[in-house]
Formats: sequence, C-alpha cells, structure tokens
Amino acid sequence: MLRILVVDDEEIIRNILLDMLSQDGHTVHTAVDGKDALEQLEGSSYDLVLSDLTMPRLDGAALLRIIRERWPETLVIIITAYGSVDSAVSAMREGAYDYITKPFLIEEIRLRIRNILAMRSLSRENTALRNQLQEKYDFSAIIGKSEGILGVLEMIRRISIARSNVLILGESGTGKELVARAIHANSPCRSGPFLAINCGAIPENLLESELFGYKKGSFTGAYKDKVGLFASADEGSLFLDEIGEMPPGLQTKLLRALEERVVQPIGSTETLPFTARIIAATNKDLAREIGTGSFREDLYYRLNVVEIRVPPLRERQDDIPLLARYFVKKKSEAIAMPEPEVEPEAMRALEQHTWKGNIRELENIIERAVILCEGNRIGLSSLPSHLRQIAVPDEPERRLPALALNEIAPADTAGQSLKQAVAAFERRYVEETIRQCADDKKEAAARLGISVASLYRKLSGED
Ligand SMILES: Nc1ncnc2c1ncn2[C@@H]1O[C@H](COP(=O)(O)OP(=O)(O)OP(=O)(O)O)[C@@H](O)[C@H]1O
Ligand SMILES: [Mg+2]
Repeated sequence: MLRILVVDDEEIIRNILLDMLSQDGHTVHTAVDGKDALEQLEGSSYDLVLSDLTMPRLDGAALLRIIRERWPETLVIIITAYGSVDSAVSAMREGAYDYITKPFLIEEIRLRIRNILAMRSLSRENTALRNQLQEKYDFSAIIGKSEGILGVLEMIRRISIARSNVLILGESGTGKELVARAIHANSPCRSGPFLAINCGAIPENLLESELFGYKKGSFTGAYKDKVGLFASADEGSLFLDEIGEMPPGLQTKLLRALEERVVQPIGSTETLPFTARIIAATNKDLAREIGTGSFREDLYYRLNVVEIRVPPLRERQDDIPLLARYFVKKKSEAIAMPEPEVEPEAMRALEQHTWKGNIRELENIIERAVILCEGNRIGLSSLPSHLRQIAVPDEPERRLPALALNEIAPADTAGQSLKQAVAAFERRYVEETIRQCADDKKEAAARLGISVASLYRKLSGED
C-alpha cells in the first residue's frame, strides 16, 4: 500500500479522495495548497502526490518541479480541470507520472495506483536481481572457510591492485570461473567489462576471429569489421577459459599478443593496443601438456605471472556443510519454496562422498534433493543411491547383492578349520568388493562397513 498526499484547494475533492483511498488501505494525508504540501513532504516521505494544478500560494506545476528535484522517488499525478489539458501535458514533460482530468472517476485513480504498485514490485525484483548478480560476482560469493579456500581468497586480495595476468588451475567444477570473476570484481578493472570465452568449445577459426576480430572482406562471410574480445574487454578483464585446449596455431598468435600487448585483427595490417587484464584457467595439467609438446612453454610463463590453484572439494571437507547449506538456500529460493532442513545422516553422506565433479556435482545433487525432498527435510532418501551407500553401513542395499556366495567362495577349503575358512572367505569377499569399486579402497571399506586400515589387515591376512 502507498503513502499518499492529496493536494487540492477544494475541500470536497480532498475529502472524497481521502475517504476513498483510505478505504482502499492507503495512508492518506491532505494539503490545501502547494506550500502546505511542501511542509508535509518535509516532515515525512510519500510514495505518491495527487495534486491539483491551479492553487493559491504555490501552484501544482511549481510543486511538481520542487518534488522532482528534492524527492525524486515520489511520484506525482496531476489532477487538472477539464480544458486545461495543455498544462497537464507540460506537467508530464516536467516529470509528472500521469495526469487525470476533473471531473474524474474514482476508478481512474485506482487504475493508476494499481499500475504504480505493479511497477514498484517489478523494480524491487530488479533490485533483488542486481543484488544476486552482485553476490555471484563479488568476493562474498565464494563460500568456504577451509585453509585451502582461505588461501585462494588471500591470493585474490593480494593481486587485486595489480593488472598482471593470472592463471587459475583446478579440477573441473572447483570454482575457477567464480575465482576469475572475483579477481575482476576486486581489481582496478572492475568498472570495465568481464568477457569470457571457452577456448575448448569452439572451432579454431571461429575462436581466432572472436578473440582478435577481423576486417571486412578478409574471408568469405566477413561482411563488416568485427571487433575482437581483446579490444572489447578494454579496461576490463578477458577470461580465457580452458586455455589448455587452445590449438597450437592460436597459441602462437596469443603469445605474440601478450608479449606486445597488441592484437592484429584477421586481414588487417594494423595492430591495435589493448589494456584488458588476461585471466586464464584450465583443468589440465599444463606441465604435462608442455612435456608432450601440446602447450607452448613460453605461453605458459606469459600467462602464469600469478598462479592460483583452486583445491578440489575432497581437500576441503570443512567446506561441505557450508556449501551444502548455501546451495539448499539458493535452490529453494529459486523455486520459491521454504528452505528445507538437511538431516544429519544426509549431511554425513555429503561429507563422506568423494566428489569427483567437485562443487558443481554438489550443487547438482543439492538441487535434485531440494526438488525431491519430502516434508521439507532433506534426508538420505533425497540423495542419489551412490551417496546413500556410503553413509549407512547397515542399509540392505550395501550388502552387495551382486556377490553370489559360490562365486567368491575360496576354491578349496577342505581340511581347514572354521576360522581359516572364514578368513579365506573374508579375504575373497574384500578383494571382490575392491574390484567392484574400481580399486577405490576407501569406497570399498565404506561399503564393507570397516575402516581402510582394517581392510588392509584383512587383505594381508593379519586380521
Ligand atoms: N566456493 C564456492 N562457493 C559457492 N559456489 C561455488 C564455489 N565454487 C564454485 N561454486 C559454484 O559451483 C559451480 C561450478 O563453478 P565454476 O563454473 O566456477 O567451476 P569451474 O572450475 O570453472 O569448472 P569447469 O572446469 O568445469 O569449467 C558454479 O555454479 C559456481 O557458482
Ligand atoms: Mg569453468
């Protein structure tokens, strides 16, 4: 509902509007002329002023000008006598939100107010969206308190004042792009653009023209000049994602650009200087790529003025509950449902899982759990089965239905004591489980409900 100030020198109009709008639930005050209105505006804030045009002391047009200047958030609707539409139109030019001619129908005013309410909720949504973007790109979007992630944040802080090239290394889904955005958001380039390109996702010739641009007519289909990303990212940051995938020919061209701080658009004889900061990222082991000759060593050193290694999630288990809660909140807000609670067993399962897909995998699993959860609680049953198995040693699913006894029974137990036979069986059972877990001993131990140490003891026959 709105706070409304009605300004009119005719008492009857003031009263009608006061009654009607108060009945609709708005907070309404009245003023007898422009001067009176200014006094009231001084004392408290209004969303809307409904004002007559012709009034003694200070008229509607003058009042409008003052309001626009001093209270730009307050909307003004001019109420004007039939026949003076011209002055109403000039009031619109001065920034009135709308005008209504007298005699007016109550419904006309209600309609305007409904529009204002709709507009306000829209602009509030926009602000929320902007805040979300801010949150996503700002430093604060990086959730975590583990030593590993604090090291990354410290590094971002330290390099924030510089414009030097940065190379971000880390497995898939560890948050490399988020780190790149945080570097940009905290750097002197923050008011410039952040442009990103995935060097592994597009064909070589397209990648070249995207990065460097081209001159009209330089190849079939080049109908007009194209500005490349290096030039577009001027005063900002250019994020070269999956740099390890860059084809050798382009590596050479990129190296030249970085060395000379200029780019040469395809088909152009001129070179253009650029100022963008270059941030590159890869999930590849570049040292190995250099070893095999698929990545240029000199380019590596150019890019790697500062190196940031984003640790995988399994090296920062402390962060899992924090991240899980953060994603639960984010995902439930996105679908406008109340935030579900994560049950302790489910949290334990999340903590114990070996996250091969890192934070992206965690995010996806939480998204699924938020959608699937019952009674607004995320329990084990809301998690995919491969996570559940690790968490609950006694769950029937974990009892290896695939292992038929006769398949794994030791070949010959004749003449053995019961104890020896059981130990032999145990060892076969453990070996078979390890095989089923693709040699992941940690996972095998979890499935068997024993510690890794005990698994080794059983294998060596000590236990
Ligand atoms: N510390 C973090 N806090 C909150 N969200 C994170 C964090 N790290 C990553 N994310 C989120 O996880 C998802 C994956 O992150 P991002 O895309 O930055 O990873 P990446 O390392 O670039 O992955 P890829 O190598 O697959 O491109 C994104 O949705 C990102 O917002
Ligand atoms: Mg990425």
